[in-house]
Amino acid sequence: MQVYDGAVDKGLEGVVACTTAISSIVDATLCYRGYTIEDLAQNSTFEEVVFLLWNDRLPTSAELVDLKNSFGKEMALEPELVAALKKLPTKDTHPMAWLRTAVSTMGLWDVDANEMDDNANHRKAIRLSAKMATLVAAFHCFREGKELATPKADKSVAWNFLYMMKGKDPDPEMVKVFDTCLILHADHELNCSAFAARVTASSLSDMHSAVVSGICALKGPLHGGANEQVMRTLREIGGVDQVIPWLEKALANKEKIMGFGHRVYKNGDPRAKILRSMSKNMTENSGEPQWFAMSEILDDEMKARKGLLPNVDFYSASVYYSMGIPLDLFTPIFAVSRVTGWIAHILEQYSNNRIYRPRGQWTGKEGLKYTPISQR
Ligand code: COA
Repeated sequence: MQVYDGAVDKGLEGVVACTTAISSIVDATLCYRGYTIEDLAQNSTFEEVVFLLWNDRLPTSAELVDLKNSFGKEMALEPELVAALKKLPTKDTHPMAWLRTAVSTMGLWDVDANEMDDNANHRKAIRLSAKMATLVAAFHCFREGKELATPKADKSVAWNFLYMMKGKDPDPEMVKVFDTCLILHADHELNCSAFAARVTASSLSDMHSAVVSGICALKGPLHGGANEQVMRTLREIGGVDQVIPWLEKALANKEKIMGFGHRVYKNGDPRAKILRSMSKNMTENSGEPQWFAMSEILDDEMKARKGLLPNVDFYSASVYYSMGIPLDLFTPIFAVSRVTGWIAHILEQYSNNRIYRPRGQWTGKEGLKYTPISQR
């Protein structure tokens, strides 16, 4: 029997699966299209970053206005979509499972669903990105039995998300912090969900299908689902005095501590450094500095005991918590931003495609002969 017996790179560690010009990771430096994440977090806006990711350059003022207008026109959900979404269960439903279904449902109404040309893909890119925040807020409102406020077309994604969540104009400072979070989460080279989206796109499947693949991969606790788990961990720990005893017990039980470690960054995740100072400010402003204090101890102890550093999910958890966002919406928020990175990857995949089709090393039985069911 001829079987593949080449080396196995478990988890594809170190495997270079495609060329990409969207975001790069070199040591502890993350760049989108050549600009460092620190530069973009400090100086740009989420919408500007979206243009950058999709067009390989920063926008002019007119181009940025144009993109914002396109987003503004597409943010609201059509009444027939709202009616369909209201039929989905929200009780005991994880919002990421709901979001996966909602985006798939949205695709059924998309007039360009089966068109794959550049213009149709651009229109779908706008619709998917503009509506993701509205979908997450819709889930929140539906389960709370509240009316979903209509997003305001002249406002940003960050502003509208907080507006729809709270039902009133959000605090400008909070909008700025949330916008920075969206920038930090927008793309991250060939991460698990971007790869999942690219794998689906590589069969020349449509953009909604590829984005749903991204959502499915992001949901897991080893990827985007970690931010929710971080906050659950901090709440379970309870107080600064309890951090070290909790950690000792968790490590003795060989548990994974959520929000730590990374496949690529071994000298620290640059996004975590930015989020760390945001967490300090936000937890102080919200009158709950203990979340940052506990995080800081956990950070120091994980470094000392395991040599593991925090990733993007660690400090973003306390930032979102300080904004009053429910824990189970932390990962959906990740999708609100990352959808734009997935789309950049999907378009890049279409533009230079070859279907992904790796091999598996056979470890099963060989040469068996069929036994009729009566003889088993
Ligand atoms: N807590 C405790 N130990 C951890 C750890 C964590 N968060 N992350 C890695 N380790 C340990 C592993 O147990 C393993 O130890 P071993 O060699 O003794 O078995 C070693 O470090 C290597 O980890 P591994 O799981 O092989 O790394 P990976 O590259 O396959 O996975 C992550 C990377 C991010 C999935 C992994 O670090 C993890 O599960 N982190 C927690 C989840 C998380 O925060 N995900 C968000 C990523 S942005």
